[in-house]
Amino acid sequence: MKVTVVGTGYVGLVSGTCLADVGNDVLCLDLDTDKIRILNEGGIPIYEPGLEAMVRKNEAAGRLRFTTDIEAAVAHGQIQFIAVGTPPDEDGSADLQYVVAAARNIGRYMKDYKVVVDKSTVPVGTADKVRAAIAEELKARSAGIPFSVVSNPEFLKEGAAVDDFMKPDRIVVGAEDAKAIELMRQLYAPFQRNHERLIMMDVKSAELTKYAANAMLATRISFMNELANLAEKLGADIELVRQGIGSDPRIGYHFLYPGCGYGGSCFPKDVQALIRTASEAGQGLKVLQAVEEANEAQKHVLTQKIVKRFGTDLSGMTFALWGLAFKPNTDDMREAPSLVLIEELLKRGARVRAYDPVAIHEAKRILGEDKRIVFAQSPIDALVGADTLAISTEWKEFRSPDWDAIKAALKHPVVFDGRNLYDPQHPRKAGLEYFAIGRK
Ligand code: UDX
Repeated sequence: MKVTVVGTGYVGLVSGTCLADVGNDVLCLDLDTDKIRILNEGGIPIYEPGLEAMVRKNEAAGRLRFTTDIEAAVAHGQIQFIAVGTPPDEDGSADLQYVVAAARNIGRYMKDYKVVVDKSTVPVGTADKVRAAIAEELKARSAGIPFSVVSNPEFLKEGAAVDDFMKPDRIVVGAEDAKAIELMRQLYAPFQRNHERLIMMDVKSAELTKYAANAMLATRISFMNELANLAEKLGADIELVRQGIGSDPRIGYHFLYPGCGYGGSCFPKDVQALIRTASEAGQGLKVLQAVEEANEAQKHVLTQKIVKRFGTDLSGMTFALWGLAFKPNTDDMREAPSLVLIEELLKRGARVRAYDPVAIHEAKRILGEDKRIVFAQSPIDALVGADTLAISTEWKEFRSPDWDAIKAALKHPVVFDGRNLYDPQHPRKAGLEYFAIGRK
């Protein structure tokens, strides 16, 4: 099938590449000439395991191309995915200007029937806006060309996005006319594994499903974080509590890990956007409001532990920091708890010596030139000249460290673990003080 993907950001690039990989003829459009140049010159604008090789393979097979030519992109696909960014507005609602602009372009240049698929995470009711924008453009041209608008939210986890797309748990499609339903079934047929993955529904339910999923997951995390803080006060161990409750199949073990807060491009933004949508609809979402507040507070939990141990004035101290990305296997630092920790440490006069396996270039971009922050070459290098160690991302390579080497390197042998990576006995046996989240 001929497919156009508008927006070669994270979601668009992964979706376009995976759709090409199953044999579709895919043209990806982006207005950012730098991004398209990088892709056309054999590079990749984001880090995602497995993606680069897949891009090159499908380019070589002639099934995947990149362009900045809007007219050519609209002409190409019968199916037009909109996968552009929806950054939060000041008031927390999703900014739809790029989505609407993409819809307008389709309406402006389309010459035959199109299925326009909202892939970006967009508030309930956006499909109506997309439909109206296309209709308006067609009317301006006095063109009566038929089209359908479909909602097909993504459930891609950064770091596992290619796998999530190729082997989905579910494919949610909101479509309301027979032609669009048939084309979407055909498009997703290669991704159906041994049982039905496609869940067909109306457009608004599909739009809400995406937010409901992320809000539910964020709720679990914030609830666990608050329980962890409580466990600490009561002298209980959240890791044991986690196992105790996770064994109930109604609760389950996934997404039950307490830590120094959730981040990323989705949870914080989607939680805010759903709160906003609910308030506009006159429906309070008290639980979700609390989820967001709890997460903001949780991002300060490591700082609080540090201040309790070393006092508010940290001048003269250097903190080794392991992990900058908001989670492992990505270089994404959007809303990362590490940013809050760095800011708090610098504010109190400390210096930071940070290491991350892939996010250092991103950290440099976000944090800029700052003499108080040094980027290290390895976890051990981060400890050189440092007083203590803090950990804010659970990268695999941090999981079994040489505690004796850490003890020897640190001036104050204290570890603040924001992701509960270790059995507390191990650092303690090596003579380190160890602080984690909700542990004895
Ligand atoms: C999420 C959703 O999982 C995905 O389905 C959706 O399409 C986009 O948003 P992503 O943002 O890539 O994906 O990250 P995810 O792996 O879900 O983690 C989000 C945050 O929650 C991370 O900061 C992570 O560290 C934190 N987290 C996750 C916890 O603190 N505890 C957990 O138990 C799980």
